[in-house]
Amino acid sequence: MVDEVLDQLIAAVLGSAKYRAIHPGLVARIGKDELAKGRKLKEAVKATKNKLHQVGGAYLGGQKPYAEWLSDLTEYQYDVETFELLLLEIMENHASTKERVPILDHFYTSIFASLPPFESVLDIACGLNPLTIPWMNLPSGTKYFACDIYGDMIGFVQDVLNLLPIDGTAQSCDVISNPPSTEVDLALVLKTIPCLEQVDKQAGERLLEQLNAKYILVSFPAKSLGGRDKGMRENYEARFNQLVEGKDWAVERFEFETELAYLIRK
Ligand SMILES: C[S@@+](CC[C@H](N)C(=O)[O-])C[C@H]1O[C@@H](n2cnc3c(N)ncnc32)[C@H](O)[C@@H]1O
Repeated sequence: MVDEVLDQLIAAVLGSAKYRAIHPGLVARIGKDELAKGRKLKEAVKATKNKLHQVGGAYLGGQKPYAEWLSDLTEYQYDVETFELLLLEIMENHASTKERVPILDHFYTSIFASLPPFESVLDIACGLNPLTIPWMNLPSGTKYFACDIYGDMIGFVQDVLNLLPIDGTAQSCDVISNPPSTEVDLALVLKTIPCLEQVDKQAGERLLEQLNAKYILVSFPAKSLGGRDKGMRENYEARFNQLVEGKDWAVERFEFETELAYLIRK
């Protein structure tokens, strides 16, 4: 009976245009929690959609013209200047990746300055961040794995990775249920922990512990999506300190106008 109601909830959520492409495992996980609170099906569907909005929909919104974007990028793939301008324009469509555009010229170069070149990178809950690869100065052939809950966006990310001189793979995932275990030089956990912790309070801690990476770059937003500060830096700083407390990890802190970042060496 409970399974039947959960199936109905999943079908109702995935049936709506805004959530159609979301990883079904995450819908099931959130839906199950909402039903366990004793909510009726209709209320549980609404609560599940609200949560999915907080963790994903608020950043990406509705359908995007992925085919059109890909066609433009393919046309200009050998014209570096135009290709990069197109990438920057497309990044504006993901509210979180968009905040990195004004700091992109110095974000990766300042953080990576003292590090050896990476042979493999994992971009967790990537949004449109893989479009920033040309600003990372990765050696050609670097293995790049990207994942996020949106199947359609991830399909587009895979198409973009295919245009870049790296060896890229993009997959739809729910990193709360399945933290990636691929061995990599660098894992990017950019502005993701607060989203995961809205669904499961332990998810951030579990992810950092389980990642099989030499370096982990963790970051937090400096402002809310609405542009307000609200003491966010201080709150996220305190949360990050809790997450690394008692761990035998070296941590370096970087502050940017729109983002607070920490480089962990495991
Ligand atoms: C704040 S955005 C950050 C996006 C990207 N890392 C960046 O900094 O540009 C959070 C991202 O997490 C994704 N997300 C939320 N929950 C997730 C989950 N359980 N597994 C994988 N990705 C998730 C969302 O779709 C969204 O793209």
